[in-house]
Amino acid sequence: MIDLRSDTLTRPTDAMREAMARAEVGDDVYGEDPTVAALEERVAGMFGHEAALFAPTGSMANVLAVASVVSPGEEVLCESSAHIARAELGAHGAITGLTMRTWTRERGQVDLPAIEAMHAPDMGPFFVRTAAVSVENTHNFAGGTVLPIEDLRALRAWAGDNDTKVHLDGARLWNAHVATGTPLADYGRIADVLAVCLSKGLGAPIGSLMVGSADAVAEARVRRKRMGGGMRQVGVLAAAGAYALDHHVERLADDHANARLLGESLGLDPDDVDTNIVVVQRPDAMAFVERAATEGVRIAAVGPRTVRLVTHLDVSRSDAERAAVVLSRLAAP
Ligand SMILES: Cc1ncc(COP(=O)(O)O)c(C=O)c1O
Repeated sequence: MIDLRSDTLTRPTDAMREAMARAEVGDDVYGEDPTVAALEERVAGMFGHEAALFAPTGSMANVLAVASVVSPGEEVLCESSAHIARAELGAHGAITGLTMRTWTRERGQVDLPAIEAMHAPDMGPFFVRTAAVSVENTHNFAGGTVLPIEDLRALRAWAGDNDTKVHLDGARLWNAHVATGTPLADYGRIADVLAVCLSKGLGAPIGSLMVGSADAVAEARVRRKRMGGGMRQVGVLAAAGAYALDHHVERLADDHANARLLGESLGLDPDDVDTNIVVVQRPDAMAFVERAATEGVRIAAVGPRTVRLVTHLDVSRSDAERAAVVLSRLAAP
């Protein structure tokens, strides 16, 4: 089976497991796990922020990050197929008590005029106050699309002038960085708070970080514990993430090349495949997924007419080539 359902499916490599086994550990709730502390400091520095907090999942990192800039009863604006709106199972409403309004734009892009039109400043008892705008880079359900840094800078400038914070869901920000060459610190500069994942294309078995100011991270540390996310000797997990940062960032370019090949096999212009995710419209999404599985290629239906393929560490070039042959045959009219 060639498994293209998600880049979360990767298994830790032998070398990563060795790094995990060697990790120095302590009780992280006591602030005594040196491997976690080193990873947090390293990742904060990569984005030019003061601090970071290790979290078990990207969803928790997003909840902590958004809650650091949006209070209960306030709203966050985001694109309508954003992961925080679609796939975190209402966590931001259920846990933080915020509301969301969305704009819709092709390829999940920032739409500043729409944001300006929706933005509601503090109007006392009349409207929900817009506290933050959230952007997702790369954008998962839009097909791993990159948000151009110029658009993010324009959003940052507008947000600064309008007393509004920017949250960046950077679960796959590494992919955007490798695809565009934009330094991670430039992405860090456009956001008040970020969430990044080590467990997607980077291949760690678990681990995400919220990144932001020292005060925001100190508050998030309390919230994380309240949510049951205070973890103990998790240096073994942080070591996997550190290993992934050392060894698995630059190779994302291979995943991007494989995704372009797969996109082409399904009739897309390869130039429209920005990173490691391919999203195609198929009227028969479920049946297409089932037919592909019987031919040894697992892909996912992410909507009744939408199919998604994701390349990753455990998909080699020859796997991608074999999958492309199968998929182009199945997709042929
Ligand atoms: C863009 C984006 N943000 C956040 C997450 C959440 O990560 P997790 O599955 O670790 O909760 C995902 C998961 O795929 C994602 O694609």
